[in-house]
Amino acid sequence: MTSANLVIDAIHEALTHVQDPELHRSLPELGMIESVEFTGGVATLKVLLTISGCPMQDRLRSDVTAAVLAVEGVKELQLSFGFMSEEQRNNVKKILRNGREKFIPFAQPDSTTRVIGIASGKGGVGKSSLTVNLAVAAAQKGLRVGILDADVYGHSIPRLMGLMGQRPTAIDQMFIPLEAFGVKTVSMEMFKPERSDPVAYRGPLLHRVLEQLLSDAYWGDLDVLFIDLPPGTGDLAISLGQLIPGSEIIVVTTPQIAAAEVAERAGRIAHQIKQQMIGVIENMSDFPCPHCSESISLFGTGGGEATAARLSQLLGAEVPLLGKVPFNSELRTGGDNGVPVVLAQPQSPAAQAILGIVDQLVVRKRSLVGVPLGFAQ
Ligand SMILES: Nc1ncnc2c1ncn2[C@@H]1O[C@H](COP(=O)(O)OP(=O)(O)OP(=O)(O)O)[C@@H](O)[C@H]1O
Ligand SMILES: [Mg+2]
Repeated sequence: MTSANLVIDAIHEALTHVQDPELHRSLPELGMIESVEFTGGVATLKVLLTISGCPMQDRLRSDVTAAVLAVEGVKELQLSFGFMSEEQRNNVKKILRNGREKFIPFAQPDSTTRVIGIASGKGGVGKSSLTVNLAVAAAQKGLRVGILDADVYGHSIPRLMGLMGQRPTAIDQMFIPLEAFGVKTVSMEMFKPERSDPVAYRGPLLHRVLEQLLSDAYWGDLDVLFIDLPPGTGDLAISLGQLIPGSEIIVVTTPQIAAAEVAERAGRIAHQIKQQMIGVIENMSDFPCPHCSESISLFGTGGGEATAARLSQLLGAEVPLLGKVPFNSELRTGGDNGVPVVLAQPQSPAAQAILGIVDQLVVRKRSLVGVPLGFAQ
């Protein structure tokens, strides 16, 4: 073998350690290295990008340059970029799906991802706020976490995660979830042509939208996926149960007894479609008066206990009250500013209550014997 060939081999080897910054796979594995030549100390390299206008081009340039110039004998690098053909892109998508055609990874029998829908009967009880805080807290504990905003009409997750106005990178139909605070995030909001456009889908189409958001996103390996469901006992919770049979539900209620009754109805639907009920979270619970520390019950009391008791009776098995998250104005301002309260004010009673709930989720195992549990530590 000539010495030039040895250097070319060494360059190929060096490139196996360079990853696509978004896809987290090596460039040769993804078929991104079109050609490598070497003469007189000069390496000439052509890298194929999955899409034109790839936002990661600068990062790739510096990573590839550093790797190639570190190879012994290479004094100079001439690096150019091209774009993949449709066939090459299809191949990338196939690699990312582990050789399978388009599918929902979490619906596969060998999936180790725990899928948790956050549901409520009434609107405005804090589902979305709790979803982001539970997810960010779980990510802080070292879990690989995703959020799917299934509230297609009232999507509020991008704002709560500080992701407003950002668009995911897409390879044709497949797209890479946006990431904030270590959480991979997908929302219909990210695909609307005009942000102010109302999204108007009817039931069957909503099912397809949910299916598409689940299967077109390149989620990678997740320990847990939180799904922020729209309010009500509606279609989408049923769709979730159909699309991901192993998915589980957490019911959110306020302390108000009237809210508990509606929450119970949401729980009934989940039970009918045989979704496992993890428990109940009471939100906007009592909080200490900032002046005299006396406990203030803005939204009544007892809703959490009542919901948990009724659902336990209905299911014939204990549905625990996982925690009570006190009313806390920081939780709202954190949402407005795009920084969840578990990060902005980790010592606040609301954040502490949320962290306590995540601890219970982490140790709580699925009942499926023999399924590897990525979620349990
Ligand atoms: N514990 C809390 N303390 C104070 N404010 C809260 C709390 N939880 C939620 N909020 C506020 O209540 C409002 C409704 O919360 P959120 O949007 O999370 O509810 P939701 O159940 O997702 O609503 P929707 O049904 O419209 O999707 C928001 O302004 C949020 O900041
Ligand atoms: Mg919401």
